[in-house]
Formats: sequence, structure tokens, C-alpha cells
Amino acid sequence: MKKGLILSGIQPSGILTLGNYLGALRNWVDIQEEYECMYFIADLHAITVPQDPKELRENTKKALMQYLACGLDPSKNVIFVQSHVHEHAELAWVLDCNTYMGELSRMTQFKDKSQKQVNVRVGLFNYPVLMAADILLYQADFVPVGEDQRQHLEITRDIARRYNSTYGKQVFTIPEAFISETGAKIMSLKDPEKKMSKSDPNPLAFISLLDDRDTIIKKFKKATTDSMNEVRFSDEQLGVKNLINIYSSITGKTPLEVEREFEGIGYGKFKMAVGETVADALEPIQKKYYELEAPENEEYIKNILKQGAEIASGKARETLKEVYETTGFYSK
Ligand code: TRP
Repeated sequence: MKKGLILSGIQPSGILTLGNYLGALRNWVDIQEEYECMYFIADLHAITVPQDPKELRENTKKALMQYLACGLDPSKNVIFVQSHVHEHAELAWVLDCNTYMGELSRMTQFKDKSQKQVNVRVGLFNYPVLMAADILLYQADFVPVGEDQRQHLEITRDIARRYNSTYGKQVFTIPEAFISETGAKIMSLKDPEKKMSKSDPNPLAFISLLDDRDTIIKKFKKATTDSMNEVRFSDEQLGVKNLINIYSSITGKTPLEVEREFEGIGYGKFKMAVGETVADALEPIQKKYYELEAPENEEYIKNILKQGAEIASGKARETLKEVYETTGFYSK
């Protein structure tokens, strides 16, 4: 018996970082045996801000190849593209009609993102409703969310409860946040107070999953530390703490063990060791990724998405049917 359904969406935005890998992707591989898992590439969400069509298409494929390269097994997880299952957009409309302008206006991500745009799109405003549709469509029990998506999960729960109580029926499962015990929070190599992000203007601040060995080592050599020259897991040394976190989450050693291993050894050697360890860990992922990129594997990739969309559609159809009936649509 599996412990429930986990669902998560990921925006297709190019190559992921070491932070995404250690903080999320790697854990997905660990939980695939225990839970029923569904992952989709959120291309409908991506167009809430302007997108270049060619890039969007490529990034969607790249996202999938990265998941596979990181070890996500398509025979154990349902992996699909959001726009391949038309029920997402359909349920989103029904939920739009059960969501208040006021509650969407309070979303902090909308406030942040809309400030950076001249013509703010309606889709950006409705973004959380589409996300609610994604989650409720599959009756997900758990959604792995970072801090930035917590408020969107809260509104999903509100929308689901409201719909259920308006119609006096348990149409939707109320989803819960999935907090993983193992996911490490990896910070920027240049400013350890900030999360590692691929959109950081300084490329030295993050490690891309596809950075080559020399680049990785160079970036670790230039990582921000301090002048204490002591490998200690402490909040007074956030840069060093971050490097210890990275090293320990790959090697499985505890921070205390890492402190001991590098006792009396300068930062230069410590950084080198972290760089080497990261490069070693990423090597097999990169090898798999480049294999998948070969034109003869296009068919294999398309097939995974086709199968994923088929399974997802089956579940989505059931929920949407019930929603349409409950809402009062006259059936054919
Ligand atoms: N909004 C999420 C993000 O940017 C992506 C996402 C879309 C998602 N739909 C989802 C995550 C449903 C979890 C569940 O990270």
C-alpha cells in the first residue's frame, strides 16, 4: 500500500541548479517507492509571463531530460506536460468562478511579479487558480512546496473547501504540504543569505547541473567564505555552512563529521574537496542527459510523455466529470 499521492509541477525554465537537485529532484527519486507520484512540466504556468515559443518548446524537453537524467523513473512516476491534459485549463475556469478577486490580490508572488511588468496579464493574476486546478484535478494528498509556493497551496485548500461546502459534497481532497526530511536548502555561492537561483545575474553564484568539472571547481574556489579560516557549521559563517551542507548532502556525512574531516585544513583545500565531490556527483547525470539529447532518443522521450499524459488524463477526466455534474452542467 502506498502512502498517498504526491503531485508537483515544475516550470520549464532551462537548466536546473545544484540547489534544485539537492533540494528537490534527488528526493523525488527517494520517495518514488513509497508514494504514488505525479510530476508535470507547467507550460501553462510558464506563459503567464512572456515566452519565446522556440525557447519554451526546447525548455520543456530539457526539463524532462533533466528529470530522467537525475534518476526519476518513468515506470514508477507519472511524468507529463501540463498542456497535454486539457482538463487543467477546464477545471481552472470552473475554479476561477469560485475564487474571489480579493484573495488573489493578496498573493505575494503576484504582487512581486506584477511590479516588474508593464502590462500585467490576467493569467498572472489567475496563476494560483490554475495551480489549484492542477492539484485538485488529481485529488493529490501531498504537494512538495518551497516557501515561495506555500501561499498558493493555502489558497488551493481554501478553494477546495469552499467548493466542497458550497455543493455539500466531498468533490476535492484537501491537499497538504509535503515536507521532506532530507531536502537541503542550498544557498548562493556568492551571497549565502540568498537561495541558489539559476536566474542570478552572477553565474558564479550557482552551479548548473550541466556545468563541466573545471567550471564547477572554479566556482567553488571563488565561493564566498570569511576570514576565520575554520571549517565550522555555524550561523556566523554562512558561506562555509552552505559548503558544508552541500558536501554533507552529497556524501551523507553529518556536518559534525565534515568539521572533523577538515579540522586544521585551510579553506582552499576544503573548497577543492567540495568542488570535486559535486563534479563527481553530477558526472553521471550529465552523461545520461547528453545521451537523451541525441536525436535517436526523441522517440523515447515522446513516448514517455504520451504515456504520462494518458494516465494523467484518465484521472483528470474522472474529477472533471464529477465537477461538471456537481456544478450543474447538462450532460450529453
Ligand atoms: N507554481 C509552481 C512553481 O513555480 C509550479 C506549479 C504549477 C506547481 N502547478 C503546480 C507546483 C502544482 C505544485 C503543484 O514552482
